[in-house]
Amino acid sequence: MLIQQLNHSTLRAVVQKYLVMLAEYDLNTAEHSLRMADTAVQFAKFLKLSPPMIQLIYEAAILHDIGKIRIPKSILNKPGPLNNDEWQIVQQHPRWGVEILQAVNGFENILTAVLYHHERYNGSGYPEGRQGRMIPFSSRILSIVDAYEALTADRSYRAALAEGQALQVIRDGQGVCFDPILTEAFLSQWNVAPNGRLKYIKWLRSETVERGI
Ligand SMILES: [Fe+2]
Repeated sequence: MLIQQLNHSTLRAVVQKYLVMLAEYDLNTAEHSLRMADTAVQFAKFLKLSPPMIQLIYEAAILHDIGKIRIPKSILNKPGPLNNDEWQIVQQHPRWGVEILQAVNGFENILTAVLYHHERYNGSGYPEGRQGRMIPFSSRILSIVDAYEALTADRSYRAALAEGQALQVIRDGQGVCFDPILTEAFLSQWNVAPNGRLKYIKWLRSETVERGI
């Protein structure tokens, strides 16, 4: 899958370069990011976002975890639970991602999406503990897709969840980890929240300021 994506015409050379860097450091993270990018684009199209916004979501999904190349492999691939010090290091990866991407031209529009992809709707996330709509729209999309892709993939400590179980975990995180309206819209793609898209469209009309962020 990785090779196919590397030849994808929509993948800009500069994105490709950083993706290769990530794949060389940790193939699992790179493959997770590519799966996430596909799902994120599907979701962004479902949300009827503009083509530039879809492109932004795509590139941000591919590179959201680029900061993990600064996490020592002993921590990144640790099979057991992380201790406090290790967890502090892992929590640096959104900021490290921004530092890495800031060093070159062309990534300005994805920096906030990357920085806030681990924020939670109730303010319990990192790096800043932002809450609700203080979290950028793009990051709120990424966090749902990130969780869904992580849940439906095999991990060293557990097998992949079935789709229905993963969707239930997303549902449980509605308003806690994830934006409630975007969660509803995400779930409605599988017809488990039949009014989700309608609610989203109504909400989008009342929140035009948020469009394109
Ligand atoms: Fe991450």
